[in-house]
Amino acid sequence: MQICRTVAELRAARARFGALGFAPTMGYLHEGHLGLARRAKAECGASLVSIFVNPTQFSAGEDLERYPRDETRDLALLAEEKTDLVFLPHVSDIYPEGFSSTVDPGPLAHVLEGASRPGHFVGVATVVAKLLNMAQPTKAYFGQKDAQQCLVIRRVARDLDLPVEIVIQPTARDGDGLALSSRNAYLSKAERAAAPVLFRALQAVQARVVEGERDADRLRQMMQAMIMAEPLAELDYVSLADAETLSELARLDRPALASVAVRFGATRLIDNLVLQPSAA
Ligand code: PAF
Repeated sequence: MQICRTVAELRAARARFGALGFAPTMGYLHEGHLGLARRAKAECGASLVSIFVNPTQFSAGEDLERYPRDETRDLALLAEEKTDLVFLPHVSDIYPEGFSSTVDPGPLAHVLEGASRPGHFVGVATVVAKLLNMAQPTKAYFGQKDAQQCLVIRRVARDLDLPVEIVIQPTARDGDGLALSSRNAYLSKAERAAAPVLFRALQAVQARVVEGERDADRLRQMMQAMIMAEPLAELDYVSLADAETLSELARLDRPALASVAVRFGATRLIDNLVLQPSAA
């Protein structure tokens, strides 16, 4: 496993491979990230994982400073996955003095996470476009847990003609349904016990859709009520939106993204399920 710390090192190392699968991450790796690295290696023959806590996707007052980091542990986990290349850039390598160009993904970036976290997706789109340009991967892998991020990145890759296939991996979950996230490390014992309410609310909506419910407001109210019944949970949003455009639906007459964002103390968690009403 080769560790590259500068863009020049990454470019030189990448040139040794033909097909390359790339999993961009912010580190503090869990089984969800390792699944991306594993799939990248299996599908492309060679894999690259980047670890970079991207400051531009955090708003003022968010958790940039306390975002969990453990480089030694991350590198050991990636070595076990037989990862070929790891990119660990410094902030000044990604955003050198005078950096001023950004990627604005447009309307998809303004709803849901984008409404709660202004500027977040410009930060994500900019860093992902830069990383893809630096690494020139054949395929790039992202987790469905960040469903809106997946849509934004697909949009950017399409709009900017980036020569890469974007692959979305299903959400990795703990046994009780909680979506794996580096931020789960922030949860107290009581908050961790309460957090599976996100997935339970999404599953309850899925079950109602299977039973035939198509009224989006009733379904949103149901998710909302389940989450608000959990004393440690503070609801940010519930959404039932078109699975491609993310515009809120009145009726579930097409594939829909059911998504939620909830705070437990200072920790903000998100989760989602794609619903297929026609197959219900
Ligand atoms: O999903 C993440 O970890 C980050 O948003 C990403 C895609 C690595 C960009 O910083």
